[in-house]
Amino acid sequence: MAPYIATTSAPVNIACIKYWGKRDTKLILPTNSSLSVTLDQDHLRSTTTSRADSAFEKDRLWLNGVEEDIKPGGRMSTCIAEMKRLRKELVEDVDASAPALSTFAVHIASYNNFPTAAGLASSASGFAALTASLAALYALPCPPTALSLIARQGSGSACRSLYGGFVAWNAGTLPSGLDSHAVQVAPETHWPDIHALICVVSDTKKGTSSTSGMQRTVETSSLLQHRIKNVVPQRMKDISAAILARDFDRFAEITMADSNQFHAVALDTSPPIFYMNDVSRAIIAVVEEYNRVALLPENGGKRKAAYTYDAGPNAVIYAPAANMKEIISMIVRYFPQQDAFKDPFGLFGAAGAGTG
Ligand code: ADP
Ligand code: DP6
Ligand code: CO
Repeated sequence: MAPYIATTSAPVNIACIKYWGKRDTKLILPTNSSLSVTLDQDHLRSTTTSRADSAFEKDRLWLNGVEEDIKPGGRMSTCIAEMKRLRKELVEDVDASAPALSTFAVHIASYNNFPTAAGLASSASGFAALTASLAALYALPCPPTALSLIARQGSGSACRSLYGGFVAWNAGTLPSGLDSHAVQVAPETHWPDIHALICVVSDTKKGTSSTSGMQRTVETSSLLQHRIKNVVPQRMKDISAAILARDFDRFAEITMADSNQFHAVALDTSPPIFYMNDVSRAIIAVVEEYNRVALLPENGGKRKAAYTYDAGPNAVIYAPAANMKEIISMIVRYFPQQDAFKDPFGLFGAAGAGTG
């Protein structure tokens, strides 16, 4: 009998409007909506192979070749259980001849081709790839929305990596979380001119995971409450409109403001969380100066690049393709001895945003 096995990759997504805070930590329901760009799968991705076998004794997971504990009731265990439930309901219960894979244990091996837990959204591509690989293994006839709902329970940001292009995660209002999933605002083909430059400032594991950091923020930051109520709802509308109008100047303005407010909220946490370092801040200064000159009337009066930082020191710079050469030479000029330029991960290059 052929083995039951499937391999799938998923790309990372980098948020322009940041998700930071949960109203339900078990279901992973966010305190605010968020919006991201899914990067090209050719660059930063997780690749996950899942195998089901009646001889396996228990579910096991290897991440980058090292076995990880699957904690009962934890996120990984929830995602696997939800996928097995869908296999039973959508396949085995409707076709008596379908093998009972939902009763077999699975062995899962996943690799990231970029730094894990360093603020480059490995949990997003990781749980999206896991969900997609189990969906392929189980031959599930279900739409991306169903997978988005399950990936969300692995890592919130993962719900957005099931879609390409420009993707919103609507916070939703239902206690069940059934309305808290990603939706595509525009496909990658809508605005292929936006590219993303990944500047690896540090590839080491962050000191405070996103999960524990945001929980501490929810518990201690009053600035977060202001952000949730008074800032994010309008920004979600404005950035969606900017994307639909392909208005890079407005997209850049909102993206940078939201990155800065997210890091301000991290600083407003007690004890404070510092995700950016001196190099991150120096990159901000370089991009701000580049935009200051671009904003002069004689230069066209529009921003030419947008930085954003997730929960880590590494910069992502979004820009129209035509500006990328100039931006790369500017970064190389200011940071000549950075390891990133040896390109150990093949990351340093203009990655087309968007994939399927
Ligand atoms: P990041 O900024 O990289 O998303 P997080 O703190 O949000 O960092 O999450 C990192 C955690 O995500 C890892 O410690 C691991 O538990 C999980 N993770 C990362 N990559 C994968 C993967 N490919 N498959 C499954 N889980 C993963
Ligand atoms: C700063 O999705 O990694 O990257 O849901 O606890 O797994 P968990 O957190 P995670 O948080 C991502 C935070 C962020 C912003 C974003 O991606 O929207
Ligand atoms: Co993450």
